[in-house]
Amino acid sequence: MQANNELHAERLTAVLGAEMTGIDLAQPITPEIEKSLHAALLEHKVLFFRDQDLTPDQHKAIGRCFGELHVHPVVPSRKEEGHPEIIVLESGPDRPFVADRWHSDVSFERKPPLGSVLRGVVIPDQGGDTLFANTQAAYEALSDSMQRLLSELHAEHDGGLFARVADEKQRKELEKDQTATHPVIRTHPETGRKVIYVNSTFTKKIVGMKRAESEALLSFLYAHIASVQFQCRFRWRTNSLVIWDNRCTQHRVVTDDVRAHRRVERVTMLGDEPY
Ligand code: SIN
Repeated sequence: MQANNELHAERLTAVLGAEMTGIDLAQPITPEIEKSLHAALLEHKVLFFRDQDLTPDQHKAIGRCFGELHVHPVVPSRKEEGHPEIIVLESGPDRPFVADRWHSDVSFERKPPLGSVLRGVVIPDQGGDTLFANTQAAYEALSDSMQRLLSELHAEHDGGLFARVADEKQRKELEKDQTATHPVIRTHPETGRKVIYVNSTFTKKIVGMKRAESEALLSFLYAHIASVQFQCRFRWRTNSLVIWDNRCTQHRVVTDDVRAHRRVERVTMLGDEPY
């Protein structure tokens, strides 16, 4: 691809995401580029790149600009080729979409990931876009009273849904870090901004509330986070690459064409314990 390694960002919507140009991520990442990527991620929260034909090592190198890489206890990966850090999310006529509900990645671990780098490998002619939501903007749109109520609360997150597809060894690995309790409102460790940190895939309940109360409050928050004014939507092409900040966004795939073969590959960067 043509690139002069001067990163340029064009906002995708008023609240979230930027189309990034001027960079070939297959080139060695200099400290200057790394700094620009960091700054862009903090500003836009989700960065979209086109035409990035990367080897697995180059894909991992992008992730390592942001931190150490996570190895998922259950989701299939390219470990046989020496890349256990690259998970493979594949769907098609005989396999349903995997990430089809709103979530932030791996929120059931005590220290959930900082972010992820997702690469489009097999992309259908249409369908399978990814939606992203800005959970900082969602927090800031709440009333002061609701913000005060939520700021006192913690919620349980559980990765048990993976146990259904895990073998015995994976299940043991999952059990080591399968549940965590996090604040419902977390503070982004780099920007200091507050965000809503519950999601409809992994959050089970709000601690100390009756089931009906917890369900009502979580349902409200899930619907609020999924409001269109906090979103952007990305149309994939082969070799598109997306970097997101997992601490202040959620995402889900749009399951509109379940017959089409789609394969995306992800590396995930380790993060801090939410506070
Ligand atoms: C993911 O949740 O990491 C994958 C999202 C997607 O398949 O678009």
